[in-house]
Amino acid sequence: MSMRAGDGREPPLATGDESASSLFCTGVRETILSRLHAEKLELCDLLEEIADSLPQALNRDQCLAASGRLEPLLREVHAYEEDVLFPAYIHAQGNAQPAVELVARLKTEHIEDADFAAELAEGLRRVGQGPDALNVDALAYMLRGFFAGLRRHIANEREAMAPLFGTKS
Ligand SMILES: [Fe+2]
Repeated sequence: MSMRAGDGREPPLATGDESASSLFCTGVRETILSRLHAEKLELCDLLEEIADSLPQALNRDQCLAASGRLEPLLREVHAYEEDVLFPAYIHAQGNAQPAVELVARLKTEHIEDADFAAELAEGLRRVGQGPDALNVDALAYMLRGFFAGLRRHIANEREAMAPLFGTKS
């Protein structure tokens, strides 16, 4: 079961003990981000497996599973990051311009990833549903471009958010 921004399960920000509350919130956010990033990395592994299987060892069920998971997962992760994590990061950085610009760049990457995911989900669905004129070489190329970009985004984001969690990525 996923935890999303605004679903009421985020711990309250204000309690009688602000420092304990703040530490608790930070821990919860780091745990949620780690889980969401882990889910994205699992999806990247699945997409890489599909790319490696093309064209001879194509598994249509795998294509359909990945197609169905791509967009909902990205929507969930982006919503949490943009609604909860990024505002907390900007706040923690004292609204400094570099932090604002960093978040703007990450949000732009989210938009690009969402557009790419929609295109890829459609390609995987077509291949998964049966013989299709879609060029499997083109699909493999798209898959590799997508998961490579997503892995890079996750690594950059973890490094960027590390100060929020008081850790080094
Ligand atoms: Fe992100």
